[in-house]
This record gives sequence, C-alpha cells and structure tokens, in this order.
Amino acid sequence: MPKIVILTGAGISAESGLGTFRDEGGLWAQHRIEDVATPEGFARNPQLVVDFYNARRAQAAEASPNAAHVALAQLEAAMPGDVLIVTQNVDGLHEKAGSSNVLHMHGQLDSALCAACDHRWEATLKMTVGQTCPACYQPTARPDIVWFGEIPYYMEEIEMRLSEADIFAAIGTSGNVYPAAGFVQAAAAYGALTVELNLEPSMVVSQFDETHFGPASETVPKWVEGLLKA
Ligand code: APR
Repeated sequence: MPKIVILTGAGISAESGLGTFRDEGGLWAQHRIEDVATPEGFARNPQLVVDFYNARRAQAAEASPNAAHVALAQLEAAMPGDVLIVTQNVDGLHEKAGSSNVLHMHGQLDSALCAACDHRWEATLKMTVGQTCPACYQPTARPDIVWFGEIPYYMEEIEMRLSEADIFAAIGTSGNVYPAAGFVQAAAAYGALTVELNLEPSMVVSQFDETHFGPASETVPKWVEGLLKA
C-alpha cells in the first residue's frame, strides 16, 4: 500500500463554516497578525489574544467535519498505518471525522500550553489571562498555538515521513506560510507523487504533479475514491 502524507490547511474546514485566513474577509482581514498571532502580541495584550482564541475555540466546538474530513478518515481506515495527516489547522475537525494519525504542526485550540514549563493540557472553552498551570502552578497559561516566529511542532517527524512518502497531497492551503509550503518540494525530491487539491491554484501550484481544483468537499472524496480503487 502506498505511504501517503496529507497536508491540510484552512480551506478544508471552510465548508464546515470556519473562516480561512487569506480569502476575502478572512481572519487576517479582521485581525492584525502581530496583535493576535505573535508572542509579542500576547506579551503586549494577553486579554486580546485570549479572547481571540476563546472565540475561535467556541466556533470550532460548534463546527462539524465536512465530506473532505470524512473522506480522509475513510482513507486512513482503509489503509491503516499508511496515511498521515499533517494539519496546519487547530480546529480538531480531523479527529471529529474519525482520523487518528494527525500531527498538529500549529498546535490545537482544545489544548493549553504553559509558557513557563511547556506543560500542555486540555483547554476549557474559555481560557483566562494568568490562568494557573496544573503542573508548575505558575499563572502562565497561554493558547497552545504556534505563533509566527515560533517553531512548528513535529518538524523532525514530518521530515522523516516526507522522505518515506509515495504520495504527498496538499489540501486547502494557500502555500503562503513556510515550512508547510516547502513540504511539496521535499516530498518531490524524495520521489513522491505530489497532488494539490484546492479551490484555486496555491502559491506553490507549479511544484505539484497533479492538481484538482474545486471545493474540498467535492474534490477530496473523488480523489480518495480513486486511490481506493487503484
Ligand atoms: N475547498 C478547498 N480549498 C479552499 C476552500 C474550499 N472550500 N475554500 C478556500 N480554499 C483555499 C483557498 O483558495 C486558499 O488557497 O484554502 C486556502 C486557504 O489559505 P489560507 O487562508 O492562507 O490558509 P492556510 O494556507 O491554512 O494558512 C496557513 O497561515 O496564518 C497562518 O497559522 C496560520 O495555519 C495557518 C497558515
């Protein structure tokens, strides 16, 4: 069975009602990145940042996976051990759809992180500023989100899995943010077949062997069906 690594971005959750970042009216049109997605922004105004992620956590809690998330969960079930999802999303929809082999390279809304001792724990729906860490008891809880300027999680494991991949697919991501936008180049260098499934061409579309344009809820189930028939 082919080893498949799938990178997902905000576009896969768009049809579940969660906004993307760079589309018309997206999150970065409503909030300044430097205010809500950098360590400096958190130091400057922790309440603004905690409120921003509390709102996104509440929205994600209400959201349901769409046919694209479900199709990826079915692919994993049909090819146990051969499918890895590396998601830039923090909404938890892959797990809600039934996927279990998921690496959250940008963190997760439903966990909290201690800025002092790096302990991570399940976040409540509403985080407060100066919330106490259950491990070191300091008032240093922060959203468990990888902010701009911070190092994404699981990079070594991701690089190793890219080197073993037969197929690398990118779904619903604009190719604006590295290191994720560079995964296609790494996978191709290791000989993987590379596939982009996106509403429109991404910034790195030219680096893909195959492209499927359209809403993820249509393109991903069709792509998975083709893989399972092969
Ligand atoms: N189906 C498929 N693709 C879609 C859909 C859809 N229904 N709707 C939007 N898209 C595509 C858009 O065309 C765009 O290329 O999803 C992509 C979303 O791009 P971004 O908003 O830039 O989101 P993403 O690529 O996930 O951003 C990467 O940037 O700000 C950081 O940490 C943040 O993880 C995020 C990272």
